[in-house]
Amino acid sequence: MIKAVRVHQVGGPDAMVYETIELPPPAAGEVRIKQNAIGLNFIDVYFRTGLYKAPTMPFICGNEAAGEVVSVGPGVTHFHPGDRVAYYFNLGAYATERNIPAEKLVKLPDRITDEQGAVLMLKGLTVWYLLHKTFKVEPGHRVLIHAAAGGIGLLACQWAKALGAHVIGTVSTQAKADLALANGCDHVINYAEEDFVARVKQISRNELCDVVYDGVGKTTFPGSLACIKPRGLFVSFGNASGPVPPFALTELNNHGSLFATRPKLNDYVGTRKELLEGADTLFSAVIDGKLHVPINHAYALKDAGKAHRDLEGRLTTGASILRP
Ligand SMILES: NC(=O)c1ccc[n+]([C@@H]2O[C@H](COP(=O)([O-])OP(=O)(O)OC[C@H]3O[C@@H](n4cnc5c(N)ncnc54)[C@H](OP(=O)(O)O)[C@@H]3O)[C@@H](O)[C@H]2O)c1
Repeated sequence: MIKAVRVHQVGGPDAMVYETIELPPPAAGEVRIKQNAIGLNFIDVYFRTGLYKAPTMPFICGNEAAGEVVSVGPGVTHFHPGDRVAYYFNLGAYATERNIPAEKLVKLPDRITDEQGAVLMLKGLTVWYLLHKTFKVEPGHRVLIHAAAGGIGLLACQWAKALGAHVIGTVSTQAKADLALANGCDHVINYAEEDFVARVKQISRNELCDVVYDGVGKTTFPGSLACIKPRGLFVSFGNASGPVPPFALTELNNHGSLFATRPKLNDYVGTRKELLEGADTLFSAVIDGKLHVPINHAYALKDAGKAHRDLEGRLTTGASILRP
């Protein structure tokens, strides 16, 4: 028997139930993991509320974690009991133990802790593909990163700065502004108090940004488009404030022949080769000291409801973990 946090009916944080369930032995191609740390993500909220549809009911929440292999199913040759591993995988992470396809796991290097591994596989890999694949950030680029003090935000600001970009971040409080400045931002805008479009124009002397990374969604749209220079890229990668409303393609024309994309991690690490390329680059960036992993909050797994309340209430900064 294991402990898991499940949703039987979508809803608020109380829809998550901490309960005892049975876990069968790993099937062919699967690995059983004892989980030591679980990453908290806004996508967990979307599944809990039903904005993103879970394929089955009830479902176990959570999309990234790290731990130790305890047994392997038939046909698994690359993983062995005792291996330290981490993964990003849709659902099933809020549990003390789980089974998972071996092809979704990566081995953790000695110098990456379980807690770091547990928050790097979804957040870190997302930042990796956003800055290296969706748009290749290079020295001199001006980038705008919304929610700069968040889990994705602090990693993105650090990495964009390390790549030589001029980084502008948005946040909602002074404490978050200080944190974003300490993590790579050249300028921080408090978008709860200031008109971020006017400030971006001022900071860039009307030259605007090469790319805008927008995980906030509804409340930063369409302002984000007005921050992008002609032929620049709008990357809408999340909906923390609600989804971006449908809009006319001519908006892209009006703002200067812009490009726009709505990417997701699955499409950038869909093959084993891509997953390992991303994880290798990410772990090297951490081990080489280019990327510091700010784990600023920890909760017991049974307190997942409080963790979700804090995340939705904008009370967290950087990454948060759940401890089984
Ligand atoms: N497409 C992908 O591949 C992918 C993968 C991972 C994550 N994401 C997206 O990336 C975004 C960030 O994820 P995360 O887990 O790192 O979360 P997070 O940034 O730690 O938390 C969300 C932040 O959004 C800001 N925010 C603005 N308006 C908000 C509102 N109405 N309600 C709640 N928060 C609001 C808050 O920062 P301020 O208080 O500073 O405004 C808050 O701290 C999410 O949209 C997530 O869905 C996308």
